[in-house]
Amino acid sequence: MQNKIKEAKSNMLGIYFSGTGNTKYCIDKFVKNIESDAKILSIESENIKEELLNNKDIVFAYPIYYSSLPKIVRDFILNNKDLFKNKNVFIIATMGLFSGDGAGCSARILKKYGANIMGGLQVKMPDCIADVKALKRSKEENKQIILKAESKIINAAQKYKNNAPTKEGLSIIYHIAGLVGQRLWFYNKTKEYSSKLKVDNNKCTKCNRCISLCPMNNLKVIDNKINTKNKCTMCYRCITNCPAKAITLLGKNVIEQNNINNYIN
Ligand SMILES: Cc1cc2nc3c(=O)[nH]c(=O)nc-3n(C[C@H](O)[C@H](O)[C@H](O)COP(=O)(O)O)c2cc1C
Repeated sequence: MQNKIKEAKSNMLGIYFSGTGNTKYCIDKFVKNIESDAKILSIESENIKEELLNNKDIVFAYPIYYSSLPKIVRDFILNNKDLFKNKNVFIIATMGLFSGDGAGCSARILKKYGANIMGGLQVKMPDCIADVKALKRSKEENKQIILKAESKIINAAQKYKNNAPTKEGLSIIYHIAGLVGQRLWFYNKTKEYSSKLKVDNNKCTKCNRCISLCPMNNLKVIDNKINTKNKCTMCYRCITNCPAKAITLLGKNVIEQNNINNYIN
């Protein structure tokens, strides 16, 4: 029995934040290609601390916002810094186009708190910014992106199993690319939570889906209207899942709600 518990505790654990599903899809593929019965858990899960405490080999995944960590992810690391000490951490960063050192962004902080950084992987996925036209692609192009992402993930999982994990996003060259490519100009965008989320209460059908989905409890009903507070982590989950397309953040209208299921098969 003792041995059995010990064995279970040495399993790999995947922990992630995913606003609209891309990152969850990637970490699931990576981890299951290494250990078919490995668990993946969102950082929003109630038992995340306990699971983190009980597992040594961690895969940590998140999307990149403006070549930086989403505020919710940075805060998660800072609030749980002691739990990362001596963990073996492999990092996956997902992005719409370019992140420079997406994986390095958390690697540097985690290393400071005593984690052993095993490797990194940066995966291009469909763009999740539902209300900005810039990175919108056709359904066929997004299907191709997912196919490429899958083969990259499977390759990286194989390398991890062979004890030669990929190191994408971790070196100084990536660091400079992340800084010069975006972070020097956009760092302020993810420094604090945003107060810019807007709900068009004329379009809103009061289904309250946004309220239940928000990882930050940033939305609430006041006088039969959905109101937003100033704690938006910009994950686009509410915007992507609003049936009335009534919520916006960076743009004025919802153009395309990211749904990975539209691009698989
Ligand atoms: C506020 C915001 C900023 C983003 N900035 C970048 C960026 O700098 N570079 C990039 O390639 N993708 C960027 N993206 C796209 C996401 O990183 C990408 O679509 C990611 O896979 C979404 O993952 P998720 O579905 O797990 O939330 C950004 C997305 C958001 C919402």
